[in-house]
Amino acid sequence: MTTHRLDTSPWSTVRKRFKTGLLDKDKLVRLMRQATEQYQVQSLIDFYNRNVEKYRDDIRSVAWGSRKSQKTRFEALSRIGNLEGRTILDVGCGLGDFYGWLKDRYSRLRYTGIDISPSMIEVASSNYPGVKFETTSVFELQRMKPLYDYVFASGIFNRRIPRHKCFVRDTIKKMFALSKSGIAFNIMSRKADFMEKKEYYADPGDMLNFCLDLGRKVILRHDYMPHDFTVYIYK
Ligand SMILES: C[S@@+](CC[C@H](N)C(=O)[O-])C[C@H]1O[C@@H](n2cnc3c(N)ncnc32)[C@H](O)[C@@H]1O
Repeated sequence: MTTHRLDTSPWSTVRKRFKTGLLDKDKLVRLMRQATEQYQVQSLIDFYNRNVEKYRDDIRSVAWGSRKSQKTRFEALSRIGNLEGRTILDVGCGLGDFYGWLKDRYSRLRYTGIDISPSMIEVASSNYPGVKFETTSVFELQRMKPLYDYVFASGIFNRRIPRHKCFVRDTIKKMFALSKSGIAFNIMSRKADFMEKKEYYADPGDMLNFCLDLGRKVILRHDYMPHDFTVYIYK
């Protein structure tokens, strides 16, 4: 299994171009931001690729505490609406487990799973042959077509990276732009009883305010687990 890495630091490439007079200051700031995002995603790819190489199909690959907690989250996400016959995009699909859970409940699923980790997609594709899985980031998907009825994300914000809040907000905006009916995602809560250093915990009040700027019909559920919440934003 291959692990994909960047050859050079993305920041040093941008800095070199600035020093040689190829960029003005505004462009430097924009490119540094892009480079940071690229680097963040790369560190996630490395982390999840390594997990899959070590644990394959085991729940430890996707870094959830247990199958039970993973399913509790799927249940909360799926309550956004009736998914029968609807088009679904699962951002950060991991091993395809959300598809496995949905297919037992909906007979006419139109599902696409994407993940930035090629190793995850490799295992998801072998777990569910014929299902559409693709190695890509949500940021690479085009705004125009196809739009999906519902866009989901489970667990993609867990692992802390630099400028995490920006990453979370940009991802949510992009998911919302790709949806026709709405989006549902989960994130760990700052109201948790304990916090792990390497994980990110969002403030639910802050998140609710941010989501209400995107769409006026928002539900934030903080009722199904003590350290986690799920948000639905409808179009
Ligand atoms: C905690 S795992 C959860 C996997 C799956 N959703 C589940 O609940 O079993 C998070 C997954 O999100 C993927 N991921 C993180 N950020 C992403 C992004 N911006 N676009 C696509 N996938 C992403 C990771 O590679 C990883 O496979």
